[in-house]
Amino acid sequence: MREEKEVKTNNQVLDLSVDLQKESYDWKKDIIINKVKFIEEVEGALKDKEITSLKKKVYSISTVVNYPKNDNMGLRNIDTNGDTVVLKKGPLLEELKQIREAQTIERAGYYLERLKKGVTEIKTSKVNDINLNRWKEYTDILTDSLWILDKRDSSGAHCAGYWGNFIPQIPHQLMMRYTKKGEWVVDTFVGSGTTLIECRHLVSCN
Ligand SMILES: C[S@@+](CC[C@H](N)C(=O)[O-])C[C@H]1O[C@@H](n2cnc3c(N)ncnc32)[C@H](O)[C@@H]1O
Repeated sequence: MREEKEVKTNNQVLDLSVDLQKESYDWKKDIIINKVKFIEEVEGALKDKEITSLKKKVYSISTVVNYPKNDNMGLRNIDTNGDTVVLKKGPLLEELKQIREAQTIERAGYYLERLKKGVTEIKTSKVNDINLNRWKEYTDILTDSLWILDKRDSSGAHCAGYWGNFIPQIPHQLMMRYTKKGEWVVDTFVGSGTTLIECRHLVSCN
């Protein structure tokens, strides 16, 4: 178990589990990965017949994600052919950890296939642009309830000048869940324009 958590690089012992906690604050941080190399590494691990060896391969990937300077696989080499993928660091590390913690090779294989799918295939529904193969990356979409919201967003043009206008997070969440990029949003009771402001916000963010 200890071996699972430690790696020696440049004579320095690094504990990835500790680093995972430390990094939780930058869950949304983008990292650019060489897609071809990444798939090669995942497929290499998938071919493994022995779980310890499979986990070691996955562990090496985690090390490169955490410590790009120790990249001996070319995973962070984005110049070779330009075929790159942008992933969120937190969810990626979590998926890799889940594989390392799998009890059976079948389960580890299942997680690896899912990881590969997340990088190679986009799966969306008819109602929004959420890539279901990478759903963990959408930390700004609330899935517990639409009504449990943090403090009212009063940034930018929003103002809470009169009773009756939307808490801006409500149209934001609705549009994230029920519109695709470029679609029209009808709000016949425009009021102070909360929905319009949020539309503009989404357009400028995407
Ligand atoms: C509750 S407010 C909407 C607030 C809006 N969602 C916001 O966040 O600012 C309702 C708005 O609908 C407008 N309204 C009410 N009846 C209307 C009607 N028959 N035709 C057009 N607008 C109407 C009101 O003037 C008011 O601005």
